[in-house]
Parts: sequence; structure tokens; C-alpha cells
Amino acid sequence: MVKMTLGVNIDHVAVLREARRVNDPDILQALYVACEAGADQITIHLREDRRHIQDSDVTNIMAHSKVPVNLECSINTEILNIVADIKPHRATLVPEKREEVTTEGGLDVFSYEEEIRFAIEQLHDSIIPVSLFVDPTIEAMDKSKELGAEMVELHTGHFSNLWAMLNSNLGHSNHSVKELELPRYELSEKLEEALLKIQEAATHAKKIGLEVAAGHGLNYHNVHEMMNINEITELNIGQSIIARSVFSGLSDAVKEMKKLTTRHV
Ligand code: PXP
Repeated sequence: MVKMTLGVNIDHVAVLREARRVNDPDILQALYVACEAGADQITIHLREDRRHIQDSDVTNIMAHSKVPVNLECSINTEILNIVADIKPHRATLVPEKREEVTTEGGLDVFSYEEEIRFAIEQLHDSIIPVSLFVDPTIEAMDKSKELGAEMVELHTGHFSNLWAMLNSNLGHSNHSVKELELPRYELSEKLEEALLKIQEAATHAKKIGLEVAAGHGLNYHNVHEMMNINEITELNIGQSIIARSVFSGLSDAVKEMKKLTTRHV
């Protein structure tokens, strides 16, 4: 059985801090607690608008983390130069739009082919392995390989939205996903299709020599679906862990997710 790496995304701790522009909660405390509770990796996103993680957070986390740091970033030149300097254990290239609430959709590896190839080369020159956050399609796997990435992170946002519209109260809330307000049988079919696409993309990626991670919208209720896909060896999870930690504390929230994402040999 293959091991599963749990990457805990602690951006949301910085979201809370930046909401009041104070020094509380302390991101380094989040780092220590998450690692102590079983996080195998820390994931952070240095956004161009610095809406949560700041440059100093990245430096401090790199200096203090006892587990590898996966630094998500866009292909913006200024950001890439910072990442190349900081030398995280891995860089994950993600698309970024200022107006979005979070990373909505995978990197467009077809329209920005040359920019992404250049970014990968720059990061490789600084000896940083690169993962691409892409939609789960066979074409995106092939293109990621061709561009020189060693890893892909499959965007599970569509799967997670479908899962929540079918199995939770999301559809009755203010945050309902309008285009997924569909009869239950249709949602069910679409969910099956979305899972199959993730499975097929993961199988193909592994076959062509890419490591496979997945992330976005994964939570305590839907993560078991990813555990059934053996080619996926890493999950990056943030929002659901930090949301649960408000009620149960970060340590218990990470421990519970670690339990759900452990493959027993
Ligand atoms: N992976 C990537 C590449 C992301 O951009 C994000 C969101 O920042 C995540 C994983 C974590 O997503 P979530 O916060 O929905 O668990």
C-alpha cells in the first residue's frame, strides 16, 4: 500500500490574522501544532495581493518547519523570484486572479504554455521541484509532463462542489453553487463522472512518470473518495481543517484528518 502525505494548508490562520491586521493568531504556532499533530507537510500560498501569507511568514516558516514546505505561487515574475530565493522543498504553480475568493480552477497549461515552461526552468535552476495544480484531464497530465513538472496536483474543487451539493446543505445556503442546482440523480451522475475523471487522470499521470497529489475542497466527509485512488500519494487540505479547529483545536483537527488519510499497510 502506498503512503499518503498529508499537507496541511495554514493560509487560513493568516486570513484570520490579516482580518484584524494584528499579530494573532501566530502562524508559527499553527506550524508547530500542525506538525506535532501529524502534518507531513506544510502548504502555504504566497499570493500576489498578499491577502494572507506575507513574505516574512514564508521566511519564518521555512526557517522553523520540521516538515517539507510546499509553496504555492503564480507564474508572476516578482513572485517567482521570491520563491527561487527562498527555495522551498517544492513549488506548486497555481493560477491566480485577484477577484477570486480562492483558487478556482486549475492552471491553464495550454494557454500559458511558454510562461509555465519558463517558470519551471527558473525553479529547476534553483533546484526546486515543481508541481502543477491542474484540472484532472488526460491532456493536462500529458502537457504537465511535457512542460517539465515532476508532479501534478489534481484540482478537486468540482468534485467537492458536487459532493457538497448532493450530500450537505450547501444548495440551501447563501453559497449554493448555482450551476449545480440540479436534480439529485443528475448530481449523482456528475459526481460519479468527476470521480472517474480524477481516477483516470491519476492513473495516466502515474503511468507517464508524474507524482500525483490532489486538493481543494476536501473535508472530513469527502476525503475517503480520494483514499480509494491509489495513485494519489499526497493531499493538501486547508479550509476544512482550520474550520474544524475553531471548535476542536488545531491539534485534534489535524489528528482526525491524519487518521482519515492514513493508508494501512
Ligand atoms: N491545493 C491548492 C493548490 C490550493 O490552492 C488550495 C487552496 O489554497 C488547497 C490545496 C487547499 O484547499 P482547501 O483550503 O479547500 O482545502
